[in-house]
Amino acid sequence: AGTTGAFPDGFLWGVAFAANQVEGGFDQGGKGLSQADVIPYRTAGDYVDISALMKVSDAEIATAVASPGTAGYPKRSGSDFFGHWEEDVDLFAEMGLKALRMSIAWSRIFPNGNDAEPNEEGLLFYERLFTRLREKGIDPVVTMSHYEMPLHLVTEYGGWTSREVVGFFERYARTIVGRYTGLVRYWLTFNEINTTIIESYTGGGVIEREPAPGVDPRQAGYQALHHQFVASALATRIVHELDPAAQVGCMLARMSHYPASSDPADIVKAQFDNNMNLFHTDVQVRGRYSGTVRRFWRDQGITVVMEPGDEELLAANTVDFLSFSYYMSLVSSVSPEKYGATGGNLFSTIKNPYLATTEWGWHFDPEGLRYVLNDLWDRYQVPLFIVENGLGATDVLEGSAVDAAHDGTDTRRVHDDYRIDYYVKHLREVREAIADGVNLLGYTAWGGLDIISASTSQMTKRYGVIYVDADDTGTGSYDRVRKDSFYWYQKLAATNGAVL
Ligand code: BG6
Repeated sequence: AGTTGAFPDGFLWGVAFAANQVEGGFDQGGKGLSQADVIPYRTAGDYVDISALMKVSDAEIATAVASPGTAGYPKRSGSDFFGHWEEDVDLFAEMGLKALRMSIAWSRIFPNGNDAEPNEEGLLFYERLFTRLREKGIDPVVTMSHYEMPLHLVTEYGGWTSREVVGFFERYARTIVGRYTGLVRYWLTFNEINTTIIESYTGGGVIEREPAPGVDPRQAGYQALHHQFVASALATRIVHELDPAAQVGCMLARMSHYPASSDPADIVKAQFDNNMNLFHTDVQVRGRYSGTVRRFWRDQGITVVMEPGDEELLAANTVDFLSFSYYMSLVSSVSPEKYGATGGNLFSTIKNPYLATTEWGWHFDPEGLRYVLNDLWDRYQVPLFIVENGLGATDVLEGSAVDAAHDGTDTRRVHDDYRIDYYVKHLREVREAIADGVNLLGYTAWGGLDIISASTSQMTKRYGVIYVDADDTGTGSYDRVRKDSFYWYQKLAATNGAVL
């Protein structure tokens, strides 16, 4: 594509969300229970250490399985995209979007994960959706696994710790890629694959089942991660075989680490922390584990079992592009006790005195996005794709659906200039990075619609440019209301970024 303005022609302006946070319809259309369906609503507390919110015990899983409705399990209702998808696609088209990043719920296709045959109703749901999107000129950018795996694979196999799950995933990947050949041009394998180590070696998502007695969680985590790398390489091979016109990307939660000081010990610590984030993309883009992670395993006594042929498979099936989420930067130091901590969706981090934080305590660092883009481009020299960036905030819905003072018209509005400001500041830095020479395919803002937060399960931590009228308990009309940011994003897409 040529470039007539600051952003390349054909730049993929879009929005992004995940099945488990948006779809609802958890027991409709033949869908099986997924691990996200058993995560109860919890109060987020001080948001400094929210990792506890993601832990689900076997007893809690059993209680959840015995609970039939949606009450108390926000991801079971999501934003009811399952019931509103046609209206939502119309809204995305009205915004002038070129891409919708979304995920397929594995448990809609294989309800138990290990079923011999896929669920036709589930396949049809996404086929209709992709067809409609393409008719509207919107490219689906599809994540195969976004914090959602069939619960049965978690409880019966131990999730990704089991090598057998790789085979189930391969069958799933072959099924969806085969079915959607020609409809989907951009595939992503695993969302934020680096979270496997941080949180969720069993579930492959924002849930960690209690480790069995005697199991070392880190050992299990790196083994589970290796299985995901193998599964990702197999899925990449499948896409390249079945649909050579389609491209495959990996997906990393890019957590850049700045040294807390110019003390060389802090610099080396920050470099180590960055390399431990980037070893994931080293495997998926370069095709091999880095020296940093191999040494870490040796030092920590971690043994990752690899089957014969695994390393060759990883080397031979690298991705076509690198996609990532960007929300914040982190700070590294050899003496963290000298500095205070602040929140993050996956980590708590040392407070950076130069940066403000969001309502949820996340560092607000637009310039860091320019840094990350240049850094990733220099390191890998493959096209990049920002597939998540956005602001979780409390929004105020003004007006009413049937306003008596205005002849009964719908006067509902959300004035979210803080969200527009967030996008403007980040996208100006993206523009700089493109001017620096970075090859960027697109930008999909998280989450388009208000969605259920991955970490806190709140609806009221709102990410959308489209308001969804529901609260944390799932009470509401689920009506869609265009926020001010909706109209701004519409201009952004229409002008290919010239509005910035
Ligand atoms: C990313 C996830 O980590 O951050 C999304 O891929 C998630 O699923 C997003 O929603 C924002 O995090 P949270 O916890 O505020 O929803």
